[in-house]
Amino acid sequence: MRPLPLTPFPYAVQSIKRGAPQTMLRPISAVLTVTLIATALTACGNDPDVKLQPARKGQITIGFSQIGESSRWRAANSRSIQDAARIQNVKLIFSVAGLSQQKQIADIEAFISQKVDVIAFSPVVEAGWDEVLQHAKNAEIPVILTDRMIATSDPSLYTSSLGSDFISEGISAAVWMKNEFRTTPGPVNVVELSGTPGSAPAVQRKKGFQEGLGDANKFKIISSSTANFSRADGKKVMAGLLKTHDDIDVVFAQNDDMGLGAMAAIEAAGKKPGKDIKIASIDAIHDGLVALENGKINFVAECNPLIGPQLMDLIQDVFLGIEVPKRVDTRETVFFPENVKQYLNDREY
Ligand code: AHR
Repeated sequence: MRPLPLTPFPYAVQSIKRGAPQTMLRPISAVLTVTLIATALTACGNDPDVKLQPARKGQITIGFSQIGESSRWRAANSRSIQDAARIQNVKLIFSVAGLSQQKQIADIEAFISQKVDVIAFSPVVEAGWDEVLQHAKNAEIPVILTDRMIATSDPSLYTSSLGSDFISEGISAAVWMKNEFRTTPGPVNVVELSGTPGSAPAVQRKKGFQEGLGDANKFKIISSSTANFSRADGKKVMAGLLKTHDDIDVVFAQNDDMGLGAMAAIEAAGKKPGKDIKIASIDAIHDGLVALENGKINFVAECNPLIGPQLMDLIQDVFLGIEVPKRVDTRETVFFPENVKQYLNDREY
């Protein structure tokens, strides 16, 4: 029965499989040919999937603003986008923002000045993008959000968003927890380690986790503190909590790095992670899956960073004037100690 898929995979499903070689990308010349024919036919017919826009020619230039390079997850995400662009002969202007929204806004303004064809970015936090996205809209440059969502009252400010279903990830951690502690009378004391304050994964994973626990009021969230998606902070925050609470049953870490930090702190405090204190986390990076196999982490929901091929598919369609879905979910799964072994060798990040 396991692993359970968390989300549907509605876009480009024929061409892209998670973890598949990037050569499975649709070749752009074929796309261009098919699209030109489709566009010409549409001029006579009435295909609702194709916009009546002139197809554009030449090499596509993308401006991409990445949040930072602070983890293996993020590095894998950047590499996937860079590799997919190279394979598709897309010109990629890639900037890294060091976790600064100001820098991301400046990067996007620079892409607008350079008149790129498409802007894509992974927004460090949800709020505060309307002004710069209005500038992009005024310049008629389509914007694709990757990985994280923004909070805006004007969805016309972006063309599409591609990323993980963070709410489902939080729900799956809660569902695992309810099952794991089903025979425990309670209360079950839960510690939540959350990510960058105001970021989409921190906000939505929390929401999904609470939604998943529902009215199971035997679970008491005795602390919810940020550890900034960082392993070092996860260890520090958990070490502090262990000094003030001797009754923690389970940790919900909103990513593997914080879960691994918590694991180290639990060991340093003389307890057994995975047994004395259980851990659920999100991402499925290699180190997280190794800890799962060793029984020190108990559950991991995947957050897939390898979105480069899907992003290139979207960008090509936007460039060619093909209508794209407003939302594209990445395909993801969940891992348990029983099913993790088969995935470990392939996990490069
Ligand atoms: O936005 C994706 C999240 O951001 C990943 O879970 C995390 O590891 C990263 O920092």
